[in-house]
Amino acid sequence: MGYRIQVLHGPNLNLLGQREPAVYGRDTLADVDSALSTQAACLEVEIRSLQSNHEGALVDAIQSAAPWADGLLINPGALTHYSIALRDAIAGVALPAVEVHLSNVHAREEFRHVSVIAPVCVGQICGFGLDSYLLGLRALVGHLQRRGPRG
Ligand code: DQA
Repeated sequence: MGYRIQVLHGPNLNLLGQREPAVYGRDTLADVDSALSTQAACLEVEIRSLQSNHEGALVDAIQSAAPWADGLLINPGALTHYSIALRDAIAGVALPAVEVHLSNVHAREEFRHVSVIAPVCVGQICGFGLDSYLLGLRALVGHLQRRGPRG
């Protein structure tokens, strides 16, 4: 195994735990990253995690992850719904990506029903709080295993 996964958290996810807890729960970003690290160790994969409130910084992070990473696990936050730059960055590096959301975006406001990121991802998982990330990591690793070595 030994896959390398870049985890990316978009705008406002640094406020997890305090931000709209009725929607996003009480887990902090540190809790999410720590749960991901534990699961990564079990799956024998390496993860790096980064949060940014800035679209360009996330685009830079995707580009610089590309030579290192085998896949991307991303919660793009609000950028999900409109960032063509982020979508193009994911498509451009051609890394398998899984999109995750804490909340069920499809059960919320209509503007959250659209993801411009999902079409360039292997799949999307939403609505399970912190577990969305853990399910997303497992799904991404499963995808990489089935796909076999990059060629
Ligand atoms: C979110 C859903 C987005 O609509 C929202 O803008 C976020 C968080 C989620 O994890 O549920 O910032 O990505």
